[in-house]
Amino acid sequence: MKTKILFFSLFVLVVFDFFAQTPTDYLSKEFHQERRDILRAKMPKNTVAVVFANPLRNRSNDVDYVFHQDPNFYYLTGFREPNAVLVIFSENQTDAKGNSYNEIIYVPKNDPVSEMWNGKRLGVKGAKDQLGFKIAKTSEEFVTDKLNLNNFEKVFVEKFKDDYRNSYRDQGDLFDLVESFKKKSSYNSRLFLSKPKKRVYELIKVTPVKNAANVAQVIGKAITYYPDLKEDAIVKGYSNATSDKVKKEFQQLAALKLNKKSNIDIDFLTIQFAEMREIKTPSELKLLTKAIRISAVGQIEMMKAMQPDMSETEIQGIHEFVYKKYGAEYEGYPSIVGAGNNGCILHYIENNKTKVDNDLVLMDLGAEYRGYTADVTRTIPANGKFSKEQKAIYELVLEAQDEGIEACTIGNMFWTPGQEAKRVIDEGLAYLGIIKSPSEKHNYFPHGTSHHIGLDVHDPGTYGAFQANMVITVEPGIYIPDGSPCDKKWWGIAVRIEDDILITVNGPKNLSGEAPRSVEAIEQMMQKKSVLNEFILPSLD
Ligand code: GLY
Ligand code: MN
Ligand code: MN
Repeated sequence: MKTKILFFSLFVLVVFDFFAQTPTDYLSKEFHQERRDILRAKMPKNTVAVVFANPLRNRSNDVDYVFHQDPNFYYLTGFREPNAVLVIFSENQTDAKGNSYNEIIYVPKNDPVSEMWNGKRLGVKGAKDQLGFKIAKTSEEFVTDKLNLNNFEKVFVEKFKDDYRNSYRDQGDLFDLVESFKKKSSYNSRLFLSKPKKRVYELIKVTPVKNAANVAQVIGKAITYYPDLKEDAIVKGYSNATSDKVKKEFQQLAALKLNKKSNIDIDFLTIQFAEMREIKTPSELKLLTKAIRISAVGQIEMMKAMQPDMSETEIQGIHEFVYKKYGAEYEGYPSIVGAGNNGCILHYIENNKTKVDNDLVLMDLGAEYRGYTADVTRTIPANGKFSKEQKAIYELVLEAQDEGIEACTIGNMFWTPGQEAKRVIDEGLAYLGIIKSPSEKHNYFPHGTSHHIGLDVHDPGTYGAFQANMVITVEPGIYIPDGSPCDKKWWGIAVRIEDDILITVNGPKNLSGEAPRSVEAIEQMMQKKSVLNEFILPSLD
């Protein structure tokens, strides 16, 4: 008996140990199933949604970039490998054997050689057992399956990314999946129009050619947001036409296109994902909060470790080391560490200044934990003490942020925190004499104040009124590059303070508030001893 118990205990230990060696706190398969059911319920009758995994991108020669799943695909499936496609039907379908199903996932097949080089694949069995799909098939089967997408009232798909290669070894890679989708559907006939294109075509169609200058103006503006429009044959032809006669021909072509019908719809899914993903479920909030708290600890540890002789790269490394120590897989976006004037470049990622000296160091970094990413910024004086000018700018940004955060209440519109922050900054800049009056136009705060965070650092959303369980950033900033039209003493000062705010029925909750924000709290934290002070490596000179 004793031997049996010992054997059993060993067995349990081994099994437990096996599972303990990889993270177990991913979203559950029930979470992803529920997301698919919600999406299905939003789909009109006799429609189908086709969602593709992200491409695997080539870095150089035979080395690829680290793969990252498409957040929408991940949200619906929990699948973390490339070369997969998900098909969701609005109603039950019946196969040749009479079995009914309403979704299929196609995943890369198990392949011992590929798995020896590149790591284990979940395979069809894993997709069923671990992700909970009743029907899972190999990606190659998507290519050979007889699915005719033209039979559906609508086929919902997102616009394809086209920066990936066809691997000739793999007959079911993303390239093959997309090509096969195009053959199964009317995609290649290109009869469908995206929303911006539809709007421009409408305008071309209804505007008398004598008013073509107005259309040109709208097209010019639309192209800045949707550069693809520039290459569109009708937009190009109409814009370049030198006579009314030719313009009228393109008007007719636009009208023809607008009348043609296709069952492909490339807008529907984008809207549904925005509506779903902007509200976080409790299990999402748990992971997102962890990512945020890890990032706050990164800021705290960096405040303690900061020395004027450090490089921007080293500072980045300390944050990222903290993330890894907590088991975060990635950074949610390229880390930004900019000292002094470098902080004025909003998405500065070179991080290659070799000595931060006595500058303010702007640190905008976020851990990605189980897919969810934080977005936290602190700006601190490298020598531990804010100068008079640095302090004045910092406290102005902090006041703007406080006002912005206060406006994060249910029912307020998304742009309210930005409006509040801008008002404070305009008044403050005028008070400090950096601009002449609060109404003077300036470029010292050139960005928005808030965006959703989640599986993406700039998470999709409808950007209307605040609702409970949204998580957004509030991130005002002031950036005064060298050579700005103000007193020299302000030059090279860049401050951004960014926190991640949960909207609740009880008001805003600052999830990244553990990292000090006030001048006094930062200076105090910077006096604390860092364990990294003893981490001294040998000189290689
Ligand atoms: N870290 C990018 C942003 O703040 O939006
Ligand atoms: Mn942000
Ligand atoms: Mn940021």
